Amino acid sequence: MHTWGKSIISALFAINACAAWAQPSEQIERGKYLMNGVVACGNCHFARGDKGQPLLEKGLSGGMLFDEPPFKAYAANITPDKDTGIGKWTDTQLAKAIREGVRPDKSLIGPPMPMEFYRHLSDADLAAIIAYLRAQPAVKNEVPKSKYNMPLPPSYGPALKEVKTPATSNKVKYGEYLANIGHCMECHTPRNDKGMLLHEKLGAGGMVFNGPWGASVSRNLTPDVSGLKDWSDAQIAKAIREGVDRSGQHYKPPMGFDFYKTINDADMGALIAYLRSLKPQVFAGK
Ligand code: HEC
Ligand code: HEC
Repeated sequence: MHTWGKSIISALFAINACAAWAQPSEQIERGKYLMNGVVACGNCHFARGDKGQPLLEKGLSGGMLFDEPPFKAYAANITPDKDTGIGKWTDTQLAKAIREGVRPDKSLIGPPMPMEFYRHLSDADLAAIIAYLRAQPAVKNEVPKSKYNMPLPPSYGPALKEVKTPATSNKVKYGEYLANIGHCMECHTPRNDKGMLLHEKLGAGGMVFNGPWGASVSRNLTPDVSGLKDWSDAQIAKAIREGVDRSGQHYKPPMGFDFYKTINDADMGALIAYLRSLKPQVFAGK
């Protein structure tokens, strides 16, 4: 059962994106924009109270349980604490963990951390996220060890060398990049009975998420009538940023609406252009 919190609104500030930076502080700002926006690592890594509410003073110190047989995983402490967090890891080690799922001791990070998608993080954005993580207060919080009663893959793919950020001028490509680093399709694509994403049905929705809210079902994000074909850009933007549908109904978790409200207009335009470029699919849910 996911124990996602409902609201972290107060944790977040509206931040303007900066496409390029020269100063380390600008790099941290870029990291903050991504982390408090489309990338939303905190949706899983924020420490949470017994009602799933984020404990802001404990920041990204982890502990959220994902009890999804065959595994029971706890989100790691990713604050710079030296004993219980990532304080002893070098930037290179941290980069390899986030983007390739390999820890400094060579062990593999397990699901639900969306490694398949984080492989797309560009060198510049990865560095910005790491700079932001380093700038957070160290919080001591010993998180229980995850248990995987299933084999993890040998790796999530070959070692990465250089990953470039696509040009923002190509809206569809840049939107695809944002959707990848926001792992939208991790939740919005149906899976086979082994839990593997059905890439030929990318964006068709239908995944069920059980939680304290009951059940929510991910929607069809493709340009089909059972998806977003008849939606205006403004309606899609409102759904993503505010978590409100066309009839004014609020969506349920676990989508990170409280983070997505800071996605700026240019990035939202790119995301929507990408969704509109997807192959139309019939909704994969019931
Ligand atoms: C869908 C939930 C989810 C999201 C989103 C997520 N993580 Fe994780 N992450 C986890 C879980 C669960 C673990 C522990 C997995 C395990 O025990 O093997 C983890 C492990 C880690 C680790 C390994 C730490 C350690 O001590 O072993 C790092 C580093 C990390 N995450 C960083 C990030 C960053 C940075 C982001 C955003 C770019 C992110 N995660 C997004 C769920 C998530
Ligand atoms: C952790 C899982 C998860 C992630 C990640 C996620 N979503 Fe969702 N999304 C959902 C679920 C579940 C719903 C439906 C909620 C409900 O019905 O209450 C939803 C609803 C939506 C809707 C409303 C569509 C409609 O037809 O009503 C849009 C648009 C959307 N998501 C876009 C995105 C985009 C873009 C991203 C990436 C930036 C994203 N989602 C990331 C789970 C997720």
